[in-house]
Amino acid sequence: MDPVRNPYAPGAGTPPPELAGRDELRETVRIALERVRRGLPTKSILLVGPRGVGKTVLLDRMREGAEAAGLQTVRVEAPENRSLPALLAPQLRIALLRLSRNEQAKDLARRALRGLAGFAKALKLKFRDIEVGLDLDPEPGLADNGDLQHDLQALLEVVGAAAQKAGTALVLFVDELQYVEEEQLAALVTALHRTAQRRLPVVLVGAGLPQLRGQMGQAKSYAERLFDFPEIGPLPEPDAKIAIAKPAEEQRVQVNEDALQSIVQRTRGYPYFLQEWGKHAWDTADASPITRDDVEAASRSAIAALDESFFRVRFDRLTPLEKKYLRAMAELGPGPHRSGDIAEQLDRKVTSLGPTRNQLIAKGMIWSPSHGDTAFTVPLFDEFMHRIMPGDDWRH
Ligand SMILES: Nc1ncnc2c1ncn2[C@@H]1O[C@H](COP(=O)(O)OP(=O)(O)OP(=O)(O)O)[C@@H](O)[C@H]1O
Ligand SMILES: [Mg+2]
Repeated sequence: MDPVRNPYAPGAGTPPPELAGRDELRETVRIALERVRRGLPTKSILLVGPRGVGKTVLLDRMREGAEAAGLQTVRVEAPENRSLPALLAPQLRIALLRLSRNEQAKDLARRALRGLAGFAKALKLKFRDIEVGLDLDPEPGLADNGDLQHDLQALLEVVGAAAQKAGTALVLFVDELQYVEEEQLAALVTALHRTAQRRLPVVLVGAGLPQLRGQMGQAKSYAERLFDFPEIGPLPEPDAKIAIAKPAEEQRVQVNEDALQSIVQRTRGYPYFLQEWGKHAWDTADASPITRDDVEAASRSAIAALDESFFRVRFDRLTPLEKKYLRAMAELGPGPHRSGDIAEQLDRKVTSLGPTRNQLIAKGMIWSPSHGDTAFTVPLFDEFMHRIMPGDDWRH
């Protein structure tokens, strides 16, 4: 069928034609944000889940909702090797400039801009990547200690006070939180703890890989009580079918029930894979309806496309030893696997593989669901490893 009209949207952070199966969670977050605005006790929310389940598009959709409800939002993505203060500072500035246009909040917003100036200046030594336009001079003693934990807390307090005056809330949307260093995560937790205690309208809606939950607890033991950690995973069968059928229907194209079943079975309901299969099935089919045969014929190109994009970008960032480690895991199946079993595959001692395992965790490739267990963060990565490193050569 006409590829120009193809509605499906595989891609990192690419909004899907139908955001299936996430209404309940969006409603939970909407309620939380509204409560924060009203100064009611509310936990921050961290969406945790593996690669390609739709964390980023959910954050974006939630942000749109928050903006439409009149909340002030900040949106950052933590890449590896950039500091959290450097990411937050320019975004906070924009939010504060907007708040300073509010008559009631003007004075406090300007004070917060002074706080931001002191914050940036004092932390510049430690976090050299901080770059932010300064609109006002610092206020001596306000968020300018040079200690992130203290200064971030002081800064979010003044920002919160300004938001409160404006009758709004500040919502921090932070993606890929698992890449933020422990010390910076701890500072963020402390600052949010403080604003929560003071009932100031500041809240975090974050997203990250499954290891995030443990990292937060590691950074601050009380983090587990301060946050909710809704798990984002593959879509249940009915939602997965809707994700495929509805966008087609909107173009007056039918997808046969057995075709839908085949897609669900091949993708296991993972959103990224659903988009890829939908796209290729559409391009393969001659006309409506899309049949099971179309889906089967499209599977080769869907897998090839995933291998070249979704899987490939991850694989290319690995050292030879890291590849070998993941290949050994794949040899054992989808996982999770015991560290001892992986080491045995490689004819090595568990301890000697510790550094490799840690690097893979830092890169976000694997995580530890429980002590001594190792699992992929990328769904179906085991099958990909078999395709990209076939046979037994990897053992040598
Ligand atoms: N609820 C959904 N229904 C249908 N498709 C979805 C849904 N959520 C996400 N998608 C699609 O899945 C793909 C991946 O989404 P997204 O990039 O948000 O995932 P992610 O969890 O952030 O992945 P990563 O961990 O790699 O950043 C996109 O193509 C998106 O359109
Ligand atoms: Mg993402």
